[in-house]
Order: sequence, then structure tokens, then C-alpha cells
Amino acid sequence: MTEFDRLRSMLPVGEFGRPLHCFETLGSTNDFAKEQAANDAPHGTLVVADEQTAGRGRGERRWLTSKGDGLAWSLILRPGRSGGETIGGVGCLTALAVCEALQENGIRGEIKWPNDVLIAGRKVAGVLVEASWEGMELVWMVVGAGVNVKPDSIPPEGAIEYPATSVETELGHAVDRWAFLRTILRIFAERWPHLGSNGITHAIEERLAFRGDEVELEGGGKTLRGRLQGIQPDGRLRLLTSRGALDVAAGEIRLRPITAEP
Ligand code: ATP
Ligand code: BTN
Repeated sequence: MTEFDRLRSMLPVGEFGRPLHCFETLGSTNDFAKEQAANDAPHGTLVVADEQTAGRGRGERRWLTSKGDGLAWSLILRPGRSGGETIGGVGCLTALAVCEALQENGIRGEIKWPNDVLIAGRKVAGVLVEASWEGMELVWMVVGAGVNVKPDSIPPEGAIEYPATSVETELGHAVDRWAFLRTILRIFAERWPHLGSNGITHAIEERLAFRGDEVELEGGGKTLRGRLQGIQPDGRLRLLTSRGALDVAAGEIRLRPITAEP
């Protein structure tokens, strides 16, 4: 049985993982999933790659996936309800599913709003959500995630802007990549129908990195400082600034903790 056969035998989980497209090498699972979505691929389609040669973060930023060391996957979602309700929160929901899968393995993960998972302040996973609209209607979303599983998946320090780690580095023993992916998808499947509910919002808030701390948000050439208070059900971050409370949508915004006064 090949590794991909083994993954196939574990899926689908709920509505996710069928059809399943597996690649030893692919540019980007998000790019492939977007092409599939544009060609009417169904809700629940999953794309997995062992290696990505053009993995992407937001904007022009890169996500590095070395062969066989991590997880790189993308899921096609056709929400079938008003887009605005779902798109803002789906990145955090995916990060929450990764955190809860880590918790099942005994490690605490935190969500660095809007789209990263940290373990003890180091980045272990990143999520990229992309969508297609027809007027006001959200037709599909692709949610992609990269998870560093083996120590070799951690990029060299000079190649990344935020300290990184891997699941195995933190656990101190090997994990089955596909079982870990299945756990993430199982949790996502359980949580997805409740996206936007108070329960999900609180679960995300409980895992929000830097909650209560002074942080800096940077985007579009502007920076904003404030105390990170929590998130709204639509995924916006609530910041307490010197001018009062402000809810900020993710977009191209990057968050950094303020560790010391300049
Ligand atoms: P940041 O992690 O800097 O806060 P972000 O959440 O805004 O960034 P993106 O804009 O989506 O992230 O870009 C992805 C970033 O992830 C890249 O800038 C790169 O520094 C980092 N990165 C790339 N590959 C890995 C990896 N395998 N593990 C950890 N970090 C990575
Ligand atoms: C981030 O670091 O903030 C986002 C990184 C998202 C990376 C994943 S890996 C699978 C999928 N395919 C891509 O090209 N990007 C996402």
C-alpha cells in the first residue's frame, strides 16, 4: 500500500476528503484546488501534496514545504449560505482545528490572528483562505494549510520572518502525518456547521495568542497599536486603541507582539 493509499483509506471524514487528489510534487495545493473549484469540483474536495514548489502565504509571501516532512493541503468549500458570514472566520476555524488536533496529542497551540498556529511562540502552521464571488454571492472558498510535522520541515532561520517549529520537535516523538491530517479534518467537520456561533468564537478566543497584550497591526503601509481583546463572530480582531475599541478585518494585515518599548 502506498502512503497515498493509506491516506485514502482514512478518508473522507464527514463531508471532507472526497474526491481526494494527491501529488508527490505540486506548485501549490491552493492553486490546484482553485482550478478544480473553477471547474465545478464539489464541496469537500481535498488536495494534498508531499512537496510544494510554489507554496504561498498571503500577498507575495512564500510557504516552504519540503518533501515528505509536513502537511500541505487545501479543501474546497461551497458554503451554500451568505458568504460574509463564513469567510472572515474560516481561517481562524482552520487554525482552531489544528490547535485542537495538537491538543489531542498533548500540546497547546495558539492562534496568531488571523491565520497562523504557534506553539510556545513559534509558528507551526499557516492557513491561506481564497475565495470566488459572483456579485454578493460567495461561490467557493479554498482553505489551505501548511503544517510543519517533522523537524526537517522547519525552514532555515534566514528564510522566514517569524520563528518556526514542528509538531515532532515539540512532542519529542514521531507522529503519523496522515492520522494528524485526519484529526484536523474531523475537528473541522465537527466545528464547520457552527462557524460564527458564540461557542466557536469563544473557543477561538481561548486560544488567541497575545490576548490582553499590546500588539501592532501592520498593513497597507500603516501600523496600528492596541491591546488585543478578542475576536468577533465574523473573524474580525477587537483591538483596544487609545481612541477606543476597533474591529479589524484580516485582509493583508500582519500582527506582531510588542515586546519592549522602542
Ligand atoms: P507572519 O508569519 O510573518 O506573521 P503571515 O501570517 O502574515 O506572516 P503570510 O503572509 O501568509 O504569513 O506568509 C507566510 C509566511 O510564513 C512567510 O512570510 C514566511 O516567513 C513564513 N513561512 C514560510 N514557510 C514556513 C514554514 N514552513 N514554517 C514556518 N513559517 C514559514
Ligand atoms: C501563512 O503562513 O500565513 C499561510 C501559509 C499557507 C500555506 C498553505 S500550504 C497548503 C496551501 N497551499 C499553498 O500554496 N498555501 C497553503
